[in-house]
Amino acid sequence: AMVRHYKFNVVVKNVTRLCSTKPIVTINGKFPGPTIYAREDDTVLIKVVNHVKYNVSIHWHGIRQLRTGWADGPAYITQCPIQPGKVYMYNFTLTGQRGTLWWHAHILWLRSTLHGALVILPKLGVPYPFPKPHTEKVLVLSEWWKSDTEAIINEALKSGLAPNVSDAHTINGHPGPVQHCASGGYKLQVQAGNSYLLRIVNAALNEELFFKIAGHQLTVVEVDAVYTKPFKTDTIVIAPGQTTNVLLKANRAAGKYLVAASPFMDSPIAVDNVTATATLHYSGSLSSTITTLTSLPPKNATPVATTFTDSLRSLNSKKYPARVPQKVDHSLFFTVSLGVNPCPTCVNGSKVVAAINNVTFVMPKVSLLQAHYFNISGVFTDDFPSKPPVVYDFTGTQQPANLRTNRGTRLYRLAYNSTVQLVLQDTGMITPENHPIHLHGFNFFVVGRGQGNFNPKRDTKKFNLKDPVERNTVGVPSGGWTAIRFRADNPGVWFMHCHLEIHTTWGLKMAFVVDNGKGPNESILPPPSDLPKC
Ligand code: C2O
Repeated sequence: AMVRHYKFNVVVKNVTRLCSTKPIVTINGKFPGPTIYAREDDTVLIKVVNHVKYNVSIHWHGIRQLRTGWADGPAYITQCPIQPGKVYMYNFTLTGQRGTLWWHAHILWLRSTLHGALVILPKLGVPYPFPKPHTEKVLVLSEWWKSDTEAIINEALKSGLAPNVSDAHTINGHPGPVQHCASGGYKLQVQAGNSYLLRIVNAALNEELFFKIAGHQLTVVEVDAVYTKPFKTDTIVIAPGQTTNVLLKANRAAGKYLVAASPFMDSPIAVDNVTATATLHYSGSLSSTITTLTSLPPKNATPVATTFTDSLRSLNSKKYPARVPQKVDHSLFFTVSLGVNPCPTCVNGSKVVAAINNVTFVMPKVSLLQAHYFNISGVFTDDFPSKPPVVYDFTGTQQPANLRTNRGTRLYRLAYNSTVQLVLQDTGMITPENHPIHLHGFNFFVVGRGQGNFNPKRDTKKFNLKDPVERNTVGVPSGGWTAIRFRADNPGVWFMHCHLEIHTTWGLKMAFVVDNGKGPNESILPPPSDLPKC
């Protein structure tokens, strides 16, 4: 295994999109940011130098960080932020991991422009479990705002209302040729007869996306850096935080074909947004016309999303077995919901909040991992409820009279190496909503999923404990539930939150603490000497 060195200069750069120019925070002046390349088991050292006026921290989304929680990145969870003018060296090893992951800022709303792909190739000489593609391409899907995203979220928090939605989606940084005022767009260059591995990342702040290429089928081979049983589809569905690898065969008449990313939002109050486009270019094609899509799913096309999600299975081969926990030590039931709390200074005298088990998470002033490691009292408690303190009708047909949530920095303690089953239930408080829940430090198996209220007697029997998909971010369906299982084999403090940025901001987050403090493998390593101070 190798040691790979990267330098990330956090700098402001003027960028023009949708006919207007604005300064954005970037890594090394790039949008999207640079792709990190490494191989399984390599060690990666990334020196982050903060040249901007904001506090910064970077998260390596999906990297397990075995015993190196100090490098995970979420501000005030595993580290204090890197202050202006300061430097922090992220140092971690890609033990047993390969595939497409990504990195992003994990503080404020900086991830709107601070994000990029993290590609982990298999060990030298180890083939993919699918036919070798001719070439690989990274496609980062994201959003673009004409105004400053920090101003947008600050305004929303002041008013207590929902923030403005983005002005466009982007593919590799560009809204594409269909968007008014956009020039060009990303060109995906291919050669007839070849096949390509597309590494697709959804880096959008607040939108799940459909992704489609006119005239071409896609074969899904991996999600969240775990191989899947290959299956063909014409549409993929990808939530913020998720990554999906597909094989694309350039098997059509040489020409130009439209590539599109459009919103999937089935919440009844969802605001629409603009489709991003790019073009698939066959080399040598002289035609100037672009073959367009015959159809794109409407934004509320839940059945399209469900069909896609239900097709996902772990590869579960001899070489890549699915190690699904068959017995459960901790059985947890968490509701994910929005709520309303009083706010005298807000527009309506109240503000929108979000919660897990009715707890709206309050960010601490020093990092939870430091508080845990150095035994600093008064930073958090470990009494996070294992089930909701209030009984809801989760279908949303009946709203509880009280939409108020409790506030707290409460964690749930897991014994090292214990097994966990967690049922995540959407509640329909204010509105049902699809919540892409991301767990740091672990992959988990998605053993079940359904509509309405989770019924333990009926639903547990139907769990797939053989070849469920393994991932790090999963959508809890609108008005439904998702069940996951994982083994708590990574000591540290691990954040779990909705990857719709606004829901995280509103408090839809909590953390697990895993540590027996017993032996070298059951405890985290000491903090690095340059760990930022608060
Ligand atoms: Cu990709 Cu806690 O985030």
